Amino acid sequence: MSTASRVVIDLDVPGPIISRHLYGHFAEHLGRCIYGGFYVGEDSDLPNEGGIRLDVVEALRALNIPNLRWPGGCFADEYHWKDGIGPKADRPSMVNTHWGNVEENNHFGTHEFMALCELLGAEPYVNGNVGSGTVQEMSEWVEYLTRDGDSPMVRLRKANGRDEPWKIPFWGIGNETWGCGGNMRAEAYADLARQYATFCRDHGDNKLYRIAAGASDDNLVWTEALMKAVSCLGCGRDVRNLFQAISFHYYTLAGPWDSKGSATDFDLDDYYRTMVKAQDIDRIIRGHSAVMDAYDPERKIGLVLDEWGTWWDVEPGTNPGFLYQQNALRDALVASVHFDVFHKHAERLVMANIAQTVNVLQAMILTDESGGLVLTPTYHVFEMNKGHHDATSVPVHVVERPAPYEHDGKALELLSASASVKDGQALVSVTNLDPSASADVVLDLRGAEIRNPAGRLLTAPKLQFHNTTADPAAVAPVALDLETDARGLRVTLPPHSFATITVEV
Ligand code: AHR
Repeated sequence: MSTASRVVIDLDVPGPIISRHLYGHFAEHLGRCIYGGFYVGEDSDLPNEGGIRLDVVEALRALNIPNLRWPGGCFADEYHWKDGIGPKADRPSMVNTHWGNVEENNHFGTHEFMALCELLGAEPYVNGNVGSGTVQEMSEWVEYLTRDGDSPMVRLRKANGRDEPWKIPFWGIGNETWGCGGNMRAEAYADLARQYATFCRDHGDNKLYRIAAGASDDNLVWTEALMKAVSCLGCGRDVRNLFQAISFHYYTLAGPWDSKGSATDFDLDDYYRTMVKAQDIDRIIRGHSAVMDAYDPERKIGLVLDEWGTWWDVEPGTNPGFLYQQNALRDALVASVHFDVFHKHAERLVMANIAQTVNVLQAMILTDESGGLVLTPTYHVFEMNKGHHDATSVPVHVVERPAPYEHDGKALELLSASASVKDGQALVSVTNLDPSASADVVLDLRGAEIRNPAGRLLTAPKLQFHNTTADPAAVAPVALDLETDARGLRVTLPPHSFATITVEV
């Protein structure tokens, strides 16, 4: 069985730039993301630099990770940065109350995070503590990281072996302050965001992009409260530039929070529910954007989705507080659908961070203590799509397509696509969400001469297929056959598959 689609792509109609930061990452002190994932310690038998696991770094470098958010998540609002500097033996430990109630020894702290960013070639996104911290603590962290010359925090940094300040572009003011970050009301947090942002100074030529902690899902009331807080007409002072962006979080589950479903043992019904939820990100971004447009029609304030991805029940036998889950072909399709939507909203949506990079939730990489490392299907979507980083989006019109699938009264579009142009190359991403029919797709590329088409395909015999150390390439990209005809390029996408097509223009 197959369906027929025709996709018109206007290569000569430039849209907004797709910021590379839409392909951002997130590493929290949660389960085995930092300890046992990124960081194994200097005494590990595994190849490492300063305790940072080098095979993980090498695999992630292939994704051109643009930014890395740290130290949380919920953990950020109980993290006290001064406990994570200086000689490791002297660092006090604490209890990670959000994630497994385990002891955190603070061996991975500010200097280790900055070393990790340097190894990855990623820009740091540091998330400060509002929930249990102080304005002074956050202000001093900014000073410690970014100030040059001589000052109390500069002397402390130098005493810990780092003379030069670092560049910190992105700064988060708390996390989920409506929940784990302090259970605040929107107006109360909006005032705190203004207060904390005031004392997160720009030192020297380091210009912070301050991100206020935003809503969950489609809580537009929260976004409106934050927009009001930086559009305060008649308050006597210009508060418009106190923070530069507002975040929100959106996770994809197949069921309710107390029964999210298995990562690999799921049926078609679960699949449809998951994909409907994934496609709903479009409605949610439109909602936040509409509220922001009312207060900021020039679109100066950015929207940042700094947590997104699939959230399943943990793998059987693992610590429920560690959020360790497998990653199947279904997860890859969730990611590709999100990216198509992100590209469409690139004018307002300036950054997104998948949760989380290693061993937690929708990870790129799964590791084990004995040195095993597996690239997940989601990793391959990030890799296949990296040509979109900082590329110019171009309009994609799906002019013929299969009828949407109706599931529980909700419509699921079975074909998803987006495209961009950069450095004389166009990149088209196409996803066939139909679980049983292949998609015959004509790509009608207009507005430029096209040369040297090439395609890659990510699929597997079943949606549940996933990679393991025993079978690391059960879901991995292969070459995609392309045909040229008078109407453009013709490709056949198997059921449940993702493809990228490049052409020189
Ligand atoms: O990513 C896991 C958790 O999900 C984060 O710590 C929190 O911000 C969110 O609820």
